[in-house]
Amino acid sequence: MIPPIARRFVAGEVPATAVAHVDDLNERNVAAILNLLGEHYDDPADAAADADEYVSLVGDIADAGLDACISVKPSQLGLDLGDDVFEEHLDRIVAAGQEHGVFVWIDMEDHTTTNVTLDAFERHARSTDGDVGVCVQANLERTPSDLDRLAELPGKIRLVKGAYDEPSTIAHTSKEGINDAYRACIRQAFETFDDGVAIASHDPEMIALAEECHTEYGTPYEVQMLMGVREAAQRELAESRPVYQYVPYGDRWFSYFYRRIRERKGNALFALRAVLTS
Ligand code: FDA
Repeated sequence: MIPPIARRFVAGEVPATAVAHVDDLNERNVAAILNLLGEHYDDPADAAADADEYVSLVGDIADAGLDACISVKPSQLGLDLGDDVFEEHLDRIVAAGQEHGVFVWIDMEDHTTTNVTLDAFERHARSTDGDVGVCVQANLERTPSDLDRLAELPGKIRLVKGAYDEPSTIAHTSKEGINDAYRACIRQAFETFDDGVAIASHDPEMIALAEECHTEYGTPYEVQMLMGVREAAQRELAESRPVYQYVPYGDRWFSYFYRRIRERKGNALFALRAVLTS
């Protein structure tokens, strides 16, 4: 069972608790992106088991009539074991998404995986005519040219600042440099994309910039934030635009929870308060 300290950020260990959380969210006009926690598998059975669970999850989402999609990590689908393992599992998941009308996002991991992830996205974006999305990271110097390539494809992109520590030879590494790059990517995406842009950030300044660009270019957009972070803002923003909450669940919750605690003192305080009041 997930201890109270982690419940703010993780929606339980099994699909049923995650689905119940999404039901509540939908009541508040917030949609969900479900993510089964897991990454960097070196046992093919783990990758296959998570792919199986995603296939069954998209059925659950459709059966429950939820406003929800899913997001998968390449290394969770076996990328460390081989590109073919990742691609085979992703094919199955996207096929299930097509069968049940559930959108499939692909998370982006560190820079060594960018090419294979974008190639897989391109293949599915074309074959599903846009029922998939991919994350792109503003901290990578290559991203403006990746955006040029992606603008030619159907499907959505999720713009993030980037969560991985990348070498300074290929990435912006200062906070200011990353924020400047993110602003530039937002402008480029709104100017050149038709199918929609997801702004996955908790940063009020970046969300305001997205709204400005939406007014200027008319490009549809959604805001995405993590479960447990700025939830009041999520509900407020959802009154005037689509908002998706990224909802992680599963029994491999510890390292995800630890990352949330390390990245911000405020998250640690919230977690501590949850323990003291439980
Ligand atoms: P950042 O941490 O830069 O903070 C900027 C401002 O936001 C703060 O000054 C504050 O105002 C506000 N803020 C941030 N955190 C807050 C908090 N806890 N409470 C209150 N205010 C807060 N990365 C990746 O590499 N690959 C991926 O696939 C994804 N996917 C993804 C999906 C979703 C839905 C989200 C929200 C994020 C990701 N990311 C990601 C992570 C992303 O790259 C980035 O590391 C984090 O979102 C942190 O950057 P922010 O822009 O949110 O704010």
